[in-house]
Amino acid sequence: MMQILPGFRDFYPADVAKRNYIFSTFRRVARSYGFLEVDGPFLERADLYRKKSGGELMGQLYQFVDKGGREVAMRPEMTPTIARMVAESGNGYRKPLKWFGIGSFFRHERQQKGRLREFVQLNCDLIGEASPAADAELLALVIDSLRAFGLTSQDFVLRLSDRNAWVRFFQQKAVVENRMEELLQLIDKIERQSEQETAEKLAPFDITLQDIRDFIERRDPASFSDLLAELSARGLSEYVEIDLKIVRGLLYYTGMVFEVFDRQKRFRAVAGGGRYDRLIATMSDGRVDLPAVGFGMGDVVLGELIEAVPAAEKKMRDALAAQPACEIYVVIADETQRPQALKIIQTLRQERWNVDFSLTPIRVGKQFQIAEQLQARLGVIVGSEWPQVKFKRLATREEFACPHDVLAERLKTERAPLIFDF
Ligand code: HAM
Repeated sequence: MMQILPGFRDFYPADVAKRNYIFSTFRRVARSYGFLEVDGPFLERADLYRKKSGGELMGQLYQFVDKGGREVAMRPEMTPTIARMVAESGNGYRKPLKWFGIGSFFRHERQQKGRLREFVQLNCDLIGEASPAADAELLALVIDSLRAFGLTSQDFVLRLSDRNAWVRFFQQKAVVENRMEELLQLIDKIERQSEQETAEKLAPFDITLQDIRDFIERRDPASFSDLLAELSARGLSEYVEIDLKIVRGLLYYTGMVFEVFDRQKRFRAVAGGGRYDRLIATMSDGRVDLPAVGFGMGDVVLGELIEAVPAAEKKMRDALAAQPACEIYVVIADETQRPQALKIIQTLRQERWNVDFSLTPIRVGKQFQIAEQLQARLGVIVGSEWPQVKFKRLATREEFACPHDVLAERLKTERAPLIFDF
């Protein structure tokens, strides 16, 4: 048997249902913040990432030469594409731009829990506004996205940091400009690397591990006072902690950065983002100069977290159960009435019911059995009583009769309240 590639996934119906739940929940929240949906191509020039993303991502690019001899890469992230799009046509839009997108991304990652080679990211970017109010709006959106899945401050925390604080710290330690990124990348890996390794890499800069620890301990919130005040006014303080260990591995970040983790530290980061105030200007050679802030949230860790938190798992299960694949099963009790039954089926489908029936003649008892297996809420029985038909609430077995031509109207009152809109 030909096996699926490592790090890639098949999506069977139950998997797609969960994925749709995640997508539509996120869409609803992003729209509630006034964000508009955008998308870009799966394939970009490899240079876009070589020049703009940098860091670890470069070793993980799926890249190849296309038939036109161009070096191309499958997108590993959305931000360079967003910056390219804004650099090209951003001037035509009212600022600030509030854009979100949902799509697949590709990274040739080392095999590990929570990291795949094809994954979905939900991205949100707020462009053209440099104030802490924009940062607060974006962080509130991250937090509300997670709360919409039934996750609370007991379940996740947003670790907030400032890359500039590190830059200032390293400047005080007389680190020269062109070695700065190297040190930032070292801090980014500090939690995943042994202390000895970190100390050895710091030594040439005359910086000790203790210097770094002291700096992290200081947790100086001064640069965040406006941002924290805004989050407090929104009642979201309990979701945020200052943690200078976060610096982010991507090269384009310029100031505020953050990552979201589960409280128990069982999983990899759920989301990450920050300010990238210079990316659009470098992308457009200075023609379009707009500050920006954004985040990406992966479906893999989010899915793991939802499954691990009982309240969130139940919320998802309830939402999926409220959207059965089949709402009405039409039972054909008299095969001579099949043409009439087909007409009813089509009418109900026009009325936006999910309707199923047996394509071939089978016993009535068997048809009801299938209706139950499909978790249909209603059975419509077309039989020898035509032009009368019956419908049945399958859970309570209550049965009603009505003329076939008023059935669709009569069933309108039988609709379950829509608790979740896919
Ligand atoms: P990132 O931290 O590389 O940031 O990715 C954001 C999130 O995507 C991660 O926290 C994780 O949940 C998910 N993710 C990343 N790689 C994988 C993987 N191999 N498998 C599964 N999930 C993964 C960015 O990509 C930035 N472009 C985010 C951003 C948007 N910054 C500003 N705007």
